[in-house]
Amino acid sequence: MADEKKMFKVTIDNITVEVEPGTSILQAARQIGGDVAPPAMCYYSKLKGTGGKCRTCLVEVAAGSTADPRPMPKLVASCRTNVMDGMVVKNITSEKVIDARNGVVEMLLINHPLDCPICDQAGECSLQDLSYENGRPGTRYEFSRRTFEKHDLGPYIQLHMTRCILCYRCLFTADQLTNKRVHGVLDRGDHSEIATYIHKSLENDFIGNIIDVCPVGALTDKTFRFKNRVWFLKPVDAHRDCNHPNCKGHVTLWYRGDEVFRVTARKDQWGEVEDWICNECRFEKKKTSDWVIEGPTKVSRHSVISQGHYVGVERPQEVLYDVLDGRKPKLLMDIHSVSEVNRPEIDLSEIEGPAHSTDFGPSKARPAGTSDAGNPWSTGKENK
Ligand code: SF4
Ligand code: FES
Repeated sequence: MADEKKMFKVTIDNITVEVEPGTSILQAARQIGGDVAPPAMCYYSKLKGTGGKCRTCLVEVAAGSTADPRPMPKLVASCRTNVMDGMVVKNITSEKVIDARNGVVEMLLINHPLDCPICDQAGECSLQDLSYENGRPGTRYEFSRRTFEKHDLGPYIQLHMTRCILCYRCLFTADQLTNKRVHGVLDRGDHSEIATYIHKSLENDFIGNIIDVCPVGALTDKTFRFKNRVWFLKPVDAHRDCNHPNCKGHVTLWYRGDEVFRVTARKDQWGEVEDWICNECRFEKKKTSDWVIEGPTKVSRHSVISQGHYVGVERPQEVLYDVLDGRKPKLLMDIHSVSEVNRPEIDLSEIEGPAHSTDFGPSKARPAGTSDAGNPWSTGKENK
């Protein structure tokens, strides 16, 4: 009889899970799901060798293992530390971790331009999400932010180096998906930058995937640039018979009305690509007739994209009660009753154009004298 595989028991934020030896703390936490899973800005499970760069996934190991239950002296990167049998880990239950993560986010934002209002990644940016959870309301940095010379990466991909957090995901993607990587990190320390030696040289058939793995808005789709905000688009799953041997042609089409604004790979609940797609599918097939439509995308990730969405929204698993070990959370206020926004009866996808404060007022009718495209601040007549 074959020996049964020994499983390791690990407890993360008071929840115990059994995992195979060799599993990282981060992957074990993802098996529990919800807020117990630490944020990961550089680790990408589909790419070998990633992780260990950004430190957002730090956790506290309160007990190393059953055999040696001493705590680990420092916080560890959960993406690069494997579980041991009997290990006890604290993520959101550790003040040290929250404090360190706040510091990491402050560091990541030191040179960031904070240009979310004009950034195409806004609404699906991991750094934006992380800043809401762990960011400071203001900066303590008094020096000039870094600037870089512009590098032209060709017709499809726009590089904004000031937004880059040097996670190295795009390099691993190019290494592992294309036959020859032509971009890299030049220089060192504060001068490090993603660049190519030869302008317009990112040409490989699969290079578009670096847009999907970039956790911030440093690499964006030139064919979609400034055309729409992602939360106004409706994601729809579609496929086509792609001739490229390594592309299955399984994509998400992003519609506004009947126009396809962009095509991306499909992503899972951790924001990771399920199947890599080729440049032809991504950049050159922007007509509905190019595709076989499967249906609305199930947005399993808690995201602004699921706001006002119509079907298939899966809420993340609620783990708060388990984490609090049976205690009840203290509710300070119900943000919905205080702010009067995010009301379930208001369907953002029904609103023509960007939502205004008037769309959330007691009556949805805009006040007389406010132009449709108007800015409520300029008229002074917005609903109070
Ligand atoms: S460009 Fe994006 S993917 Fe590449 S290192 Fe910078 S943040 Fe990471
Ligand atoms: S995700 Fe672990 S160090 Fe970046």
